[in-house]
Amino acid sequence: MLKIQIPATSANLGAGFDSLGLAVNLYNYVWIGKSDILEISSADGTKIPTDETNLVYVSAKYLFEQCGKKLDGIKILQENNIPMTRGLGSSSACIIAGLYGANLILGSPFNTDELVNIAAKIEGHPDNTTPALLGGIVTSVYEENRKVHWVKQEIYRHLDFFAIVPDFELSTAFARQCLPETVSHMDARYNLARAALFSASLLQGKYENIRIAVTDRLHQPYRMELIPHAQDVFDKTYALGAYGTYISGAGPTIMSIVGTKNYGFEKEVRRYLDESGLETWKIYKLSIDNLGTRVVLE
Ligand code: HSE
Repeated sequence: MLKIQIPATSANLGAGFDSLGLAVNLYNYVWIGKSDILEISSADGTKIPTDETNLVYVSAKYLFEQCGKKLDGIKILQENNIPMTRGLGSSSACIIAGLYGANLILGSPFNTDELVNIAAKIEGHPDNTTPALLGGIVTSVYEENRKVHWVKQEIYRHLDFFAIVPDFELSTAFARQCLPETVSHMDARYNLARAALFSASLLQGKYENIRIAVTDRLHQPYRMELIPHAQDVFDKTYALGAYGTYISGAGPTIMSIVGTKNYGFEKEVRRYLDESGLETWKIYKLSIDNLGTRVVLE
């Protein structure tokens, strides 16, 4: 069996709705190998679908079909460390695992660009799937739901990413339904300037821009309503010196970008959550993963 490591991802990065995303060093592992039957199991007790609705399987089968082949059986074992339905790319990790594993099993008929396109097609937008595959911070444009134009940039700066993870799920489908159909020209301008500012500032180390760059008018104002206490948590992270705080993907995870020398940040956020009745919320201290999905040795 191949053991595949897939990073968690944080999408949107504030203003870059459906476009910007980055990979972090929290990983799912998927062992995948040939079999005559469908064998799916969980290595860590996480409840996962073990039938044909399993997303790793669905994605592997899709890739086989793109090659004109039928997938009769496959063996899949999953270790899920990425919290599910929390805005950290758990479903994209499953999609990438299935595509990457199936592509290897078939002798790599698809190149990276093709895998990026197939993954975006399954997920519907490229901002989690592309960094999940490639690592780093990725800017993607999904042209006519057909082709992803992307650029990956690696980040070796001293930054921590604190994922503050609520104790409830928020489905992406629901969190998208809450967005308006149309936005004003003024709001569109507001976002595009900030999205462009974000990656340039992160890469140049101009962190004083990040707080402005992560504000947006396309999704966070609507999604804040779906995440009780979110505004208070945002305010607290800024009071503790975060460079920027945004809703990760569709939420409900709140992500704070913090300098590595801000030693007290995690402890103070933890204390704040505990004192605010949010002791079941978790904090993950993460950093950028620049490598993306890969096969690892046992
Ligand atoms: N860009 C997507 C959204 C990410 O915000 O809905 C979640 O998958």
